[in-house]
Amino acid sequence: MQPRSASLNVRPALAVSVEGLTKRFGITSAVNDVELFVPPGQAIAFVGPSGAGKTTLLELIAGSVSPDAGRVSLYGQDLSSLKPGRELASLVGVVAQQYDLVPNLSALQNVLAGRLGAWGAWKSILSLLAPRDKPLAMRALERVGIAGRAEERAGRLSGGEQQRVAIARVVVQDPKIILADEPVSSLDPARAEDVLALLVSIAHERKLTLIASMHAIDLATRYFDRLVGLRNGRILFDCPASDVTRTDLNALYKIEEERGG
Ligand SMILES: Nc1ncnc2c1ncn2[C@@H]1O[C@H](COP(=O)(O)OP(=O)(O)O)[C@@H](O)[C@H]1O
Ligand SMILES: [Mg+2]
Repeated sequence: MQPRSASLNVRPALAVSVEGLTKRFGITSAVNDVELFVPPGQAIAFVGPSGAGKTTLLELIAGSVSPDAGRVSLYGQDLSSLKPGRELASLVGVVAQQYDLVPNLSALQNVLAGRLGAWGAWKSILSLLAPRDKPLAMRALERVGIAGRAEERAGRLSGGEQQRVAIARVVVQDPKIILADEPVSSLDPARAEDVLALLVSIAHERKLTLIASMHAIDLATRYFDRLVGLRNGRILFDCPASDVTRTDLNALYKIEEERGG
């Protein structure tokens, strides 16, 4: 019989655990044998050139793409065993690269759609008529600084406002992990920094784990705890943001002269 050693079991589960993860598209290995262990509450950025596999790795962790090999666990649960919908939505929420708001619905209604995972779709559709989580959604819009725009159609909001709505929506979804694919890359530099600062501070105050892919290396370095450099589907470095060197970055972004030859 195994000895009782409760003290050995109190180690909190990792928020995200990725082992031997591989995803191929034809002959391209978009993600190639990746290992990644993320403790709860950490803010981590994927950086690397276009085509490195950042989006695919986020999609694999979100469960929207299934791997060819390897596995993803969220809080100790195998992702492939989690039911899509409510169960998955309570663990992981996504802020998309392109705003995926419904343009004809108000900002508030778009935020309420964040309850879709928590409620099941029919209740969410019902909520468009009788929004019972309206106070929750209004508080989320206040937190992202656009409560005054709650009734405006999403399609009429600026890019920065739309991304704030997307953040408010994931706040009402209330997952433990937020995944964000280049959340600020389509905003001008000043707004990009404001929106990123907002996203990181919301994750921090709610003790959420945040994994984002980032195009702007300077923002990634300043706002995230840890950087993972990806190139050709593989991890080139994985370290505290403050430890990333010029040499690391040069290797990450270097032009492959042999390509096409
Ligand atoms: N749906 C897809 N079909 C075919 N190839 C894809 C698909 N998604 C990604 N790829 C390829 O996988 C590689 C990684 O892409 P991606 O994950 O989008 O990288 P990144 O987000 O770092 O730019 C690229 O070579 C890309 O062309
Ligand atoms: Mg991408």
